[in-house]
Amino acid sequence: MTQYRTPYEALGDTGIRRLTAAFYDYMDRAPEAAGIRAMHGPDLAPMKERLAEYLISWMGGPPIYAEKYGSMCMTNPHKPYAIGPVERDQWLWCMDRALEQIGADDELKQMLKQPLFAVADMVRNRD
Ligand code: HEM
Repeated sequence: MTQYRTPYEALGDTGIRRLTAAFYDYMDRAPEAAGIRAMHGPDLAPMKERLAEYLISWMGGPPIYAEKYGSMCMTNPHKPYAIGPVERDQWLWCMDRALEQIGADDELKQMLKQPLFAVADMVRNRD
């Protein structure tokens, strides 16, 4: 039986902040993500905050990202970066590891699987 209607209900602000912190820590350290790590600036702390704000909104919480930055569209902010299937899959790999690390249950992982793939594939701007 479903325990929650949205990922936000499962994680809340605190869980999503733990998720994004774990996500960028994997990106920072794992050789598997070295390609996308190199696209980012040296300090990932501001990105932890921005991705948390985005995911709080995207996962069904208050729409704080759009209120602050004006749009939920991720195409434009990613235009300067060459993102193909390899980069997309590195991003998804970090997210899988981060979900594992924060102890996400199977229901939550299942709920997020397709939507996370869809949003990551939307950011892709080359084959
Ligand atoms: C598919 C692979 C992806 C790659 C390689 C990637 C890479 C990047 C890079 C290099 C930046 C700029 C970081 C900086 O300013 O230092 C960025 C910004 C950002 N990314 Fe991604 N990204 C990906 C997917 C995603 C997805 C799927 C989301 C959302 C679910 C997302 C959310 C964000 C946000 C919120 C920002 C900040 C945008 C802004 O407010 O300017 N990214 N990304």
